[in-house]
Amino acid sequence: MEFSHRLDLFGPEIFAALNDKKVALEATGRRLFNLSVGTPDFAPADHIKQALIDAAKDNDNWKYSLRDLPELLDAVCAYYKRRFDVDSITPDKVMSFAGSQDGIGHLGLALCNDGDVVLLPDPCYPVFMTGSKLGGAEPWYYKLTKENHFLPDVTAIPEEVARKAKFMLVSLPANPVGSIGTPELYAQLVDFCRKYDILLVHDNAYSDIIFDGAHGGSIFNTPGAEDCAVEFFSLSKSFNVTGARISFLVGRPDVIAACKKLRTQIDFGMFLPVQKAAIAALTGPLDSVKRQCGEYQARRDALCGGLRSIGWDVPNSHGSMFVWAPLPTGYTDSMAFCLELIEKAGVICTPGFSFGPSGEGYVRFALTLPVDRIEKAVKAIADSGMIH
Ligand SMILES: Cc1ncc(COP(=O)(O)O)c(C=O)c1O
Repeated sequence: MEFSHRLDLFGPEIFAALNDKKVALEATGRRLFNLSVGTPDFAPADHIKQALIDAAKDNDNWKYSLRDLPELLDAVCAYYKRRFDVDSITPDKVMSFAGSQDGIGHLGLALCNDGDVVLLPDPCYPVFMTGSKLGGAEPWYYKLTKENHFLPDVTAIPEEVARKAKFMLVSLPANPVGSIGTPELYAQLVDFCRKYDILLVHDNAYSDIIFDGAHGGSIFNTPGAEDCAVEFFSLSKSFNVTGARISFLVGRPDVIAACKKLRTQIDFGMFLPVQKAAIAALTGPLDSVKRQCGEYQARRDALCGGLRSIGWDVPNSHGSMFVWAPLPTGYTDSMAFCLELIEKAGVICTPGFSFGPSGEGYVRFALTLPVDRIEKAVKAIADSGMIH
């Protein structure tokens, strides 16, 4: 059988060698420090779990939902006011997705035609590439480099590329590089997108994991953004509900309508108990979200400070649940380094090249273990003899 040529857009599974090594070491009884996968180890709050349990007891809630409940859309609008002080969001500017992964994965299909140019960061979260290419778009990668503090620099985008571009994907705080935006940077991005009639797509997965007193906001805090932007707003990381798949696309009504048109062809809506859990999260207390951010910061300090103390010069990340570490002296190949690190230290991290060509020369650590385990991981790295 000849399968779709679309599958040829994606390379082979690059993590196979790393997974094989992990499974083999675990089979020998070795306890590993898994700092590779970006799934929070914190628990969801009780009121969120209870809302789901209560709703699941009602047989009616097991039917196709077919739509986002009006009270869910209202809860998102109210949350934007409460959390971000944005009062321009109305229900026609909101739709749910089964996670931002799903939303971004389908974005190109709703927005693009073959050959359309889209602007993506390199390195980036991989579904940015997938979602664009599935829609026939041709990514033009803007580089996130140490020299520009891993932030988008619109002045480096050639005029002829800007004139052709359909959308620009930006995600701050950034996975994998750990950089964060400033009001000035967001204003520059909005001006650029308005000037060239580009849709600004902001993936706001980490607004609540931001360090050293910085404030995580919404793209809609920036004047002019409502004309040119949409934002993916996910509950996954703020509320530790990654498996429940709760995310929203918020912003320009014409873009929401296009995405809804695509979605209604292929989906019958979010499971109603999950919608109720989302309402509970959005309308409930947020103190545990704040506390959790403090815990991520303590982990960031334990990892980055710890690695620096053993001679590996890893800068602090400023937000997201990740640390972006340049390979230590003597290493140039991120996959080879990861394989050696798991073997010699029992520490698993992700090779930088898997996030795009500019990611080579780096590895990504996820802050998904408590401080005491991170300290032990740092000691294991020191004892491995790999850092000189
Ligand atoms: C930048 C970024 N966007 C989106 C996602 C996916 O989030 P969701 O669970 O809402 O699909 C992730 C998950 O790690 C991410 O890092």
